[in-house]
Amino acid sequence: MASDTVYRASTTAPVNIAVVKYWGKRDPKLNLPTNSSLSVTLSQADLRTLTTASCSASYPSSDGDSLLLNGEPSDVAGARTQACFRELRSRRAALEAANPSLPKLSAMPLRLVSENNFPTAAGLASSAAGFAAFVRAIANLYELPASPSELSLIARQGSGSACRSLFGGYVAWRMGDKADGSDSMADQVAEASHWPEMRALILVVSAAKKGVSSTSGMQQTVATSGLFQERITKVVPQNMDLMEKAIKEKDFAAFAEVTMRDSNSFHATCADTYPPIFYMNDVSRAAIRAVETINANVGRTVAAYTFDAGPNAVIYYLEQDTEAVVGTFYHVLGEIDGWKQASLKGLKPSMSLDGGV
Ligand code: ADP
Ligand code: DP6
Ligand code: CO
Repeated sequence: MASDTVYRASTTAPVNIAVVKYWGKRDPKLNLPTNSSLSVTLSQADLRTLTTASCSASYPSSDGDSLLLNGEPSDVAGARTQACFRELRSRRAALEAANPSLPKLSAMPLRLVSENNFPTAAGLASSAAGFAAFVRAIANLYELPASPSELSLIARQGSGSACRSLFGGYVAWRMGDKADGSDSMADQVAEASHWPEMRALILVVSAAKKGVSSTSGMQQTVATSGLFQERITKVVPQNMDLMEKAIKEKDFAAFAEVTMRDSNSFHATCADTYPPIFYMNDVSRAAIRAVETINANVGRTVAAYTFDAGPNAVIYYLEQDTEAVVGTFYHVLGEIDGWKQASLKGLKPSMSLDGGV
């Protein structure tokens, strides 16, 4: 008779929003990127994924592994989800082989239950928080002695951006150059406490699921955009250097310029994809103009916009400029057609950084 003990572990994981964007895979199977990237991890008090992993010998093996995402059954047959299961199980199996008194969790079906407290697949990095939580929940369940770097390596195989959500603060994903991907993972560039005044304002322009997923969009870009080569060979390497320097020196003007230029460069390669991909809409562009107006009115750079693969804006600014940025945003956008409708859908309050996970 199979024991009916249910083993269970839960975790939360934060969202991260890239200031130098990952866009392009050099190896879609191993999920290896064409360029390094850098992001800021946001506070879990605002946006987070909560995932519980459980396993039991009493779960029918015919059910296999499963994932309930936001209350709906979600497909786990995809190669990238399977890679995460495989990597975690083999580490658990190694522990069990070394210590035969451990329960054989690696042989039991896994059930994951996950909830995002923010829009899923809308360009707010749900795959990042989602796969970081997925991997850590199972690692906790299996009591793996894995470091954040090792979990980052596994989460990368689920969704590239997820490798950065295993760390708090300012985080780089080094693309690596090994064919097996064993050096493609994230590391922390600086702790949140190094520059704790950083804030992010999230403008939820649309909570709808995007038309073109990140996975598919970037593959179309790699295959068809000429501009993309310029981006990965020149623009991104330079932006990575400038961004690391800006963060080390806490130079907001430099941080902001690189952030905005890199977002523009990424969306330019989307427009250069054939057929073109448009993630931003008129309201997104109005947000860009509002940031320019705010910076011009203040007479220095106090705000930086960035957009992932979706229309929603993330505005980075420093705490001491809250009034100038957040206060003025409502005022400036109020005068732009189309904004009223967007703001009704919800203007997320400012968020601080996540200190560590
Ligand atoms: P986003 O911009 O939100 O990251 P993507 O297109 O990159 O959008 O990825 C969305 C996909 O990520 C979802 O369709 C789902 O497969 C996966 N995902 C999102 N949240 C979770 C979660 N909490 N657990 C597991 N997978 C998730
Ligand atoms: C625009 O990590 O979602 O948000 O690896 O295919 O799951 P997959 O893609 P994903 O792509 C994120 C793209 C981005 C930029 C970034 O987060 O760096
Ligand atoms: Co994503």
